Amino acid sequence: MKRSIIKSTGMFVPPNVITNHDLEKMMDTSDEWIKQRTGIEQRYWIDQEGVTGSSDLGFEASQIALENAGWSPQDLDFIIFATLSPDIMFPGSGCLLAAKLGLDSTPALDIRQQCTGFLYGLATADAYIKSGLANKILLVGAEVHSSGLDKTTRGRDVTVIFGDGAAATCIEGVETDESVGVLAASLHADGNLAEALMAELPASRLPVRLPPGLPTDDARYFPVMDGPAIFKKAVRMLPKVINESLEKAQISLDEIDLIIPHQANMRINQALGQFLKIDNNKIFHNIQKYGNTTAASIPLALHEAMEQGRIGKSGDVVLFAGLGAGLTWGSAIYKFL
Ligand SMILES: CC(C)(COP(=O)(O)OP(=O)(O)OC[C@H]1O[C@@H](n2cnc3c(N)ncnc32)[C@H](O)[C@@H]1OP(=O)(O)O)[C@@H](O)C(=O)NCCC(=O)NCCS
Repeated sequence: MKRSIIKSTGMFVPPNVITNHDLEKMMDTSDEWIKQRTGIEQRYWIDQEGVTGSSDLGFEASQIALENAGWSPQDLDFIIFATLSPDIMFPGSGCLLAAKLGLDSTPALDIRQQCTGFLYGLATADAYIKSGLANKILLVGAEVHSSGLDKTTRGRDVTVIFGDGAAATCIEGVETDESVGVLAASLHADGNLAEALMAELPASRLPVRLPPGLPTDDARYFPVMDGPAIFKKAVRMLPKVINESLEKAQISLDEIDLIIPHQANMRINQALGQFLKIDNNKIFHNIQKYGNTTAASIPLALHEAMEQGRIGKSGDVVLFAGLGAGLTWGSAIYKFL
């Protein structure tokens, strides 16, 4: 049977480190508040003067993943690009990335599932591989948040948590009788809570997408978030969806070597550990360095966990889980070949 194997990973963050102290100079916040409430110490932002899109960060991460897989771009038969911050309104960043990779006919699909973009992408890649539609897939999660954040006190609850970054995985269909690769995925969405985390403009539902004369600091340009509501939902739904995947894969929590949750808030991930009654060192954190990089967060954490030797040996089992705008949430279980 065909199994979907993560052959390699790659990551890239832009060079500008923005510490909590840097944010203190822009808005009424403090290093202490940010660290205590979120666990974040710093994040990376693109150069605020230049032109850098999520496909540019995705390109850098993809080149590393492709090199690590020993693949050339021409080997790819499908590209999946997950982002909530596409370079432009259309076409999708997957098409832009494909062009940057020197490709001119490889199919490219954008996924707009925010913090669960990688989970939706992984499940899609797995389905494409198992159905025979594709066999060598590049799955990228990349975000440029910094150009769309309200850097005044009005936006502080959102702005302090997000960072720019990208990560890529090369996923290959491998014929084997072993139960390896993507073992299970559970995905959910609830658009009734769309307004709990959204950026409203530009909006095709309005008579004019960008109402004329709108000041460039109109709040609708920037993400708004009902943080406490999302926090509660995450703490409630993540254990449920994790159990759903475990049941689908027919394995127990004890058999999971590492949980890689979406990096939205250190306290959410610690609460997850308490709910699941598992040791905290079984949960991977890197939010302190990168903040919330949304679609890039889980693959970026996977890349680092593998580099640190926390996961990646044959037979190791990793569980991914996340919740974010949409709302969308999900989990997936992966066993290394
Ligand atoms: C955003 C989040 C960190 C806020 O933490 P919180 O403990 O819920 O804090 P609250 O929103 O209740 O705000 C507490 C106080 O801190 C203030 N505050 C908010 N952001 C602040 C900041 N950056 N610096 C200083 N104070 C801040 C609030 O104004 C509020 O003040 P008040 O009590 O005088 O009204 C937290 O709710 C969270 O992480 N939510 C989930 C985010 C998430 O998972 N999103 C989905 C993925 S993107």
